[in-house]
Amino acid sequence: MITVADSDELISSLAKLPRPLCLVPTMGALHEGHLALMHEARKIVGAGGTVAVSLFVNPTQFDQKEDLKHYPRPLSADLSACESAGVDLVFMPSAQQMYRADHSIVITENHLSQFLCGASRPGHFSGVCTVVMKLFMLFRADSAVFGKKDFQQLAIIRRMVRDLNVPITIVGHATVREVDGLAMSSRNIRLTPDQLSEAPMLQRSLRAAADLMKMGERQSDPILSAALFHLQKSSQFRIDYLSIVDAENLEPVSMIRKPAILALAGFYGQVRLIDHIELLP
Ligand code: PAJ
Repeated sequence: MITVADSDELISSLAKLPRPLCLVPTMGALHEGHLALMHEARKIVGAGGTVAVSLFVNPTQFDQKEDLKHYPRPLSADLSACESAGVDLVFMPSAQQMYRADHSIVITENHLSQFLCGASRPGHFSGVCTVVMKLFMLFRADSAVFGKKDFQQLAIIRRMVRDLNVPITIVGHATVREVDGLAMSSRNIRLTPDQLSEAPMLQRSLRAAADLMKMGERQSDPILSAALFHLQKSSQFRIDYLSIVDAENLEPVSMIRKPAILALAGFYGQVRLIDHIELLP
């Protein structure tokens, strides 16, 4: 496995690696969710292609300085995880490598990022789009794999690729969960043991609410109320948003006539978690 920290070195290393190339962008603190994306990437390129991973805690997508400061960075464990997942190349640039001090161009998405996490994290998706586009340009990747866990991020990246004619195939991978249903996240290790044992209730609450669909419910309000009822049993979890949105354009819906998403974000202390469930009419 090749590791590079410098973009010129990256470009010369890439010239020697076989195509097709599939990129898995990450911020490190790797868990089974990230590894599943790497295995998916291998399936896409086959044994003869290249699987590349970026490990970069992108400062421009953090709206809270504290969150950036506390973001876990277990570099040697991450490199071993990539090695055992059969990754061919890891790019781990510094912030100075990625961003010139006087950089003045960013990518902004103006519609999908108005809702959900975009509404409560100003500038977040602009930071994501800009870094992801830079990675696409550096790698000239044929494809890239993203997790459906961050479904708003995935929708925005698909939109960016469509609207800017980026020649890359975007592949979405299912959310990987702990056996108790908790969506794997690099932030889970920042939860106290107490919060960690309670957190599976997020997915359970969404599931219980989504079950109303099986009884014929199609209005958003009763489904949201059911989810809220379960979530409010926790004295520790602070809801940021709980919303039902159209699965494609992410606009809030009051009646579920097309595939929709019941999405939630909130905090245990300073730790922000997100989760969602699909609602299929
Ligand atoms: P990060 O949170 O490290 O996630 C990297 C990729 O792993 C994303 O595509 C994310 O959706 C996916 N992922 C995380 N947890 C997952 C899980 N439990 N199951 C399946 N996939 C999961 O997302 C980012 O980094 C950044 O915003 C990035 C795209 C790298 C840009 O900086």
